[in-house]
Amino acid sequence: MPDNDSFWKFYWETRLQPMETLGKREAILEASRLIRERALENKRPLRLLELGCGEGQVIGSLLDAHSQQCDLGGSLGVDYHAPSLDRCRRDYPGLPCLQGDFTDPVLINRLGSFDLLLLVNALHEVFSDALADGGKSPDIPGAQEKVRAALALAAEHLAPDGWLVLFDGLEPEGDLSEPITVRFLSRQARRNFESFSRQYRPLKIVYRQEQDPLVVTLSRRDFTRYITKSIFLGKKLWESERLQSYQYFTATQHRAAVESCGLYIETLRTLTINAGKWQQQVEILTPGEGFPAEHILICAHKPAEAKRREPTPAGHLQPEPPGDD
Ligand SMILES: C[S@@+](CC[C@H](N)C(=O)[O-])C[C@H]1O[C@@H](n2cnc3c(N)ncnc32)[C@H](O)[C@@H]1O
Repeated sequence: MPDNDSFWKFYWETRLQPMETLGKREAILEASRLIRERALENKRPLRLLELGCGEGQVIGSLLDAHSQQCDLGGSLGVDYHAPSLDRCRRDYPGLPCLQGDFTDPVLINRLGSFDLLLLVNALHEVFSDALADGGKSPDIPGAQEKVRAALALAAEHLAPDGWLVLFDGLEPEGDLSEPITVRFLSRQARRNFESFSRQYRPLKIVYRQEQDPLVVTLSRRDFTRYITKSIFLGKKLWESERLQSYQYFTATQHRAAVESCGLYIETLRTLTINAGKWQQQVEILTPGEGFPAEHILICAHKPAEAKRREPTPAGHLQPEPPGDD
């Protein structure tokens, strides 16, 4: 395929039209840019690894688009959800898929190394799974530590001169306990908030009802969770979304976590896709308070001189080291 920006702009606009309202579109565009840049210098096709690949829309679209620059059979999608992987295999034949938990060092240490690591809307699920394990008293620092450990483990599988594209939710900086007063713009929006506060699981949502039945006060932490989930309320996806906290790190914590893996951040952007929909649900009454940023997109580089891990020449799974027994 031709390698010029206007061609790719047109290509992705057409191809990603069904994802117009999804933030992960931005992750695909960023990864496509990187693949095109890298392909000019690279002597061999690039191997892509997506952890938490789901149905493969991210890694699959990139491999379809850049079949000349990427090594399809040397790339890999990992996910623990079998039905999603079945769909991935069906939609992207030729892309190797592995069912398993990418936080498990035994599984992940057998994968070899890759040139581009994709973590798109996956790490917040690691955080949420860890919170769920805590039952009624969720351990937020402990769950954040699990995310850091998963990221560090994944980053070890980047080849020298490899790249990470990370896309996920974003916790606001500052005091999360600060109160925010909001007015719902319809009775339906107020009812949806009621369902949200009762059914959202990862953390307990607390609010104060004001005199006006459409006005409530809640913490910035809880408001951020409500507003980013509001687009799922009343929809089928709510059943899974209500169990997930999309926020786990501020931009500062994201930066620190990526840098502590020995990676250099080239791009760090925050973005909001759904503000228009939020504004139809709720008005913020607290002076000076605005809607939070929704997503973070980070593109980071592993220096070529980093400790070398030999690429796996064929296949993905290296044999497990002999056990003690
Ligand atoms: C929100 S989906 C995103 C899928 C894909 N990255 C995309 O953007 O289209 C998150 C995926 O991560 C998977 N996942 C979450 N935690 C995982 C883990 N520890 N090991 C393997 N897969 C995981 C889930 O099963 C789910 O398919």
